[in-house]
Amino acid sequence: MTSAASLQAEARADPASGVGAGDAFDAWVRDTLRRTEHALAVSLPPADTLPSHLHEALRYAALGGGKRIRPLLCQAAGDLAEAPPDALDATGAAIEMIHVYSLVHDDLPAMDDDDLRRGKPTVHVAYDEATAILVGDALQAQAFYTLSALPLPAERRIALVRELAQAAGSRQLVGGQAIDLHSIGHLLGQPELEQMHRMKTGALIRAAARMGALCGVADTPPNAALYRALDAYSAAIGLAFQVVDDILDATADTATLGKTTGKDAGADKPTCVSMLGLEASRALAGALRERAHAALAPLAPRGRRLGQLADLIVHRTH
Ligand code: IPE
Ligand code: IPE
Ligand code: MG
Ligand code: MG
Ligand code: MG
Repeated sequence: MTSAASLQAEARADPASGVGAGDAFDAWVRDTLRRTEHALAVSLPPADTLPSHLHEALRYAALGGGKRIRPLLCQAAGDLAEAPPDALDATGAAIEMIHVYSLVHDDLPAMDDDDLRRGKPTVHVAYDEATAILVGDALQAQAFYTLSALPLPAERRIALVRELAQAAGSRQLVGGQAIDLHSIGHLLGQPELEQMHRMKTGALIRAAARMGALCGVADTPPNAALYRALDAYSAAIGLAFQVVDDILDATADTATLGKTTGKDAGADKPTCVSMLGLEASRALAGALRERAHAALAPLAPRGRRLGQLADLIVHRTH
């Protein structure tokens, strides 16, 4: 089971997550997932739009799967800033489009060469390589189009476009992917590995939190405490997210994860696990979770949802 629903079940079942049965967190996650799915479904061109095989593939990639962690973070941070719900939904969908594009390209033969994603054949397997490249290209354009059309003042839309462009670009996500591919077979030191993780994964997670807040209030001095807390929080969970991804690649089974496990070691990728070993990697994830909670202290008790998401990120099993 790789769906977001199973993630909720996991949070309920895991006492370490601090989420009890019947907690409002569960309903909030379910509602955010439903609204994200709807925002994606209406933002993406219908499958019968010409060229229909491309739009079918695009919807195949983006709809009906994934944990939707970034839209959840966007929503939780946006709630702190009292952001309008319709703007938050569309912003979460735009961030998810960038994330899905990065996965579709990450899975290509020229990159990680993976056949399975979110429990189904990757786009280049289900369709073909050229279609997978074009799906990524189209998702990236659609993400920025979606932000440009948000029901927010123009200067706020520009701030959101800038935030996402910076996180997705060659200094962050794309640069991190380049370092990842150029590091195959090399030993990285811990600072280099952490920098790669922050770039390829942490940056978009940080952007998700900041963009939720930006839908509500500008990043200006009166809101400095909020943005400082979000930055410190997302620095911790952004790194934790990839540390746990590396641990799961080494320890989970393919059916649970919905993607082929053991690929990192097989491809001789430098990962947290190859560098530190499993035990130290788990300890690092736990320490980062604590750091995330500490960062939320100035927002207490309003940062509760973000704290619950930090628990989910670190304790997840897929
Ligand atoms: C996987 O991301 C790729 C990384 C950035 C580590 P997710 O684990 O969020 O993938 P989905 O969206 O749930 O499929
Ligand atoms: C992917 O990291 C990060 C991005 C897609 C930006 P991984 O290559 O570790 O992600 P998975 O394990 O294939 O999901
Ligand atoms: Mg990769
Ligand atoms: Mg990969
Ligand atoms: Mg991985």
